[in-house]
Amino acid sequence: MRVGVLTGGGDCPGLNAVIRAVVRKGVRQHHFEFVGYRDGWRGPLEGLTMQLGIEQCRGILPRGGTILGSSRTNPFKLDNGVERIKENLAKDGVDALIAIGGEDTLGVATKLADLGVNVVGVPKTIDNDLSGTDFTFGFDTAVNIATEAIDRLHTTAESHHRVLVVEVMGRHAGWIALHAGLAGGANIVLIPEQPFDIREVCDLVESRFESHYAPILVVSEGAVPREGGDMTLSSGELDDFGHVRLGGIGDRIAREIETRTGKEARAVVLGHIQRGGTPTAFDRWLATRFGLQAVDAVADGDFGKMMALRGTAIARVPLIEGTGELKLVSKEEYAEAQVFFG
Ligand code: F6P
Repeated sequence: MRVGVLTGGGDCPGLNAVIRAVVRKGVRQHHFEFVGYRDGWRGPLEGLTMQLGIEQCRGILPRGGTILGSSRTNPFKLDNGVERIKENLAKDGVDALIAIGGEDTLGVATKLADLGVNVVGVPKTIDNDLSGTDFTFGFDTAVNIATEAIDRLHTTAESHHRVLVVEVMGRHAGWIALHAGLAGGANIVLIPEQPFDIREVCDLVESRFESHYAPILVVSEGAVPREGGDMTLSSGELDDFGHVRLGGIGDRIAREIETRTGKEARAVVLGHIQRGGTPTAFDRWLATRFGLQAVDAVADGDFGKMMALRGTAIARVPLIEGTGELKLVSKEEYAEAQVFFG
């Protein structure tokens, strides 16, 4: 059997670990041949392939990024996109496809599976917002990077009696902010799921200073002020996703705090640092196990499935379970962290 492999969407630590596991087990146990498709769905769309065998996978386990490259290309948004993919798969002699990606990439995989393409999905995103799986790989690495940053920022905040606002990734879900905020002992965590009231935030900042410590705020990039509150974002400030342009929401909150409390505040945007570099041991472990299970699913002809972590076991669930709805932080999970606010 000839199997195509692609990685789509934002890159994330652990992608190479999946590719390596798929290829090693696929070649050694199932005697498969592999075709690497470059740059996500653009690969099968434009016939961009690369050699993919055990040799190409040597030494990649600890490497961030993806040897296959990535893109956010969506064939369903392009003329004849699906037909072109089907044609190229046939031309390359590919019998099955392993798509490693997040909501968009696996959304395409779900639709292609419905159209009869033999596809298996592996979930990835640093945001951990894919449903159907307890965790996605890349998330643990991002949380560790953010936690280390918060640890470092505590000491400089305290030395200068300044507020430090750390903006982390998470467009729709606050998982990185919540986990890193708890692990790093943040004094306030703001997430997209729970719009904030800037007056409450400033009260917490002031009460924190009364106990002689400078506060650390961890803010998801998608955090928004509560409607009807006295902080508003003008449409000119926002991008297509409703996020603050330029310095982002972290910077905007830091400026509000300075104006309202008179305390000096600085914002730090961690951005793509959270996505780069070597994966943690947990992410390598999870990515490897997803890869092993995905190639077994292909061998079993179990298509239209996504790999999922359920407790400590790797399960195969219908692709639609991962792509139907985002997994968001619940009120209860957020309330748990609020005990430490202020
Ligand atoms: O989905 C992963 C993610 O890193 C989000 O947290 C973030 O909003 C987005 O990708 C950034 O996308 P890009 O790399 O295209 O700017």
